[in-house]
Amino acid sequence: MNNDRRKTIFITGASRGFGFALTKQFISNQWKVAPLVRKDKDATILKRIDEYSCFPIISDITDNSLQSSIQKSIKHHDGIDVLINNAGAGGSGVLLNETKSDEVLSLIDVHCLGVLRVTQAVMPFMKNDGIIINVSSRFGSISKVSTGELDNVPCSYCYRIAKAAQNMLTQCMCREFKNSGLKICSIHPGRLKTDSASVDADKTPEEAAAILFEMLNSIEHGKFYSLFEGSIEW
Ligand SMILES: NC(=O)c1ccc[n+]([C@@H]2O[C@H](COP(=O)([O-])OP(=O)(O)OC[C@H]3O[C@@H](n4cnc5c(N)ncnc54)[C@H](OP(=O)(O)O)[C@@H]3O)[C@@H](O)[C@H]2O)c1
Repeated sequence: MNNDRRKTIFITGASRGFGFALTKQFISNQWKVAPLVRKDKDATILKRIDEYSCFPIISDITDNSLQSSIQKSIKHHDGIDVLINNAGAGGSGVLLNETKSDEVLSLIDVHCLGVLRVTQAVMPFMKNDGIIINVSSRFGSISKVSTGELDNVPCSYCYRIAKAAQNMLTQCMCREFKNSGLKICSIHPGRLKTDSASVDADKTPEEAAAILFEMLNSIEHGKFYSLFEGSIEW
């Protein structure tokens, strides 16, 4: 990456939790941040952190007008160095007969199609040596779910299906852009104490944001990282 300019990162789901912690982490390291939030009040709060470093975009990643909102805002930046697709939501129904097909569709809309929409909008602005990080989950790993190691941690069908769909999107992008200079990867951020916490949550979003910031320069294309534990099988 070019060190003569301030780097810029685009982060979705920045109103709270991991996305908010990431926004603060990058601003405190002199990056410019374009955080995507859904509500005016959250944009105002973020802008107040540092109006010269933080340029919020108000949109919903399931909304069809998302792409033009993103492009109107980020054309004012000198390219995007890092995109973190972080926005996400949990689901209900941990058993087959509790699972509603409408909710599965709605979570796929957020976790997979939301990532698709945002990435399509940001891609024309990505620096040639930029990094795209999709925030997935250990529950999106078919390998991990199939070994049974997560059997004692309740998680909805919808969330697991939606994150697995996102993982396939990530791998499709990894194959298409394998010789492009871009680095594309997925992360499980850890068991974070946020509004979407699992029953075994034990880390803060700030701890996870600090680890992600430190590992940026060593990220490898095509990997599925677990921030506190190395890497995960897809
Ligand atoms: N917490 C964990 O232990 C954990 C573990 C594994 C993976 N993850 C993943 O990590 C990411 C962040 O999780 P978190 O724990 O920080 O969650 P969180 O505290 O619940 O925050 C979720 C964020 O996503 C935003 N969001 C949800 N739906 C959106 C939409 N349709 N359009 C735009 N923004 C939307 C929310 O915005 P609003 O404030 O407007 O609702 C909020 O900013 C998620 O992808 C989650 O699946 C979390």
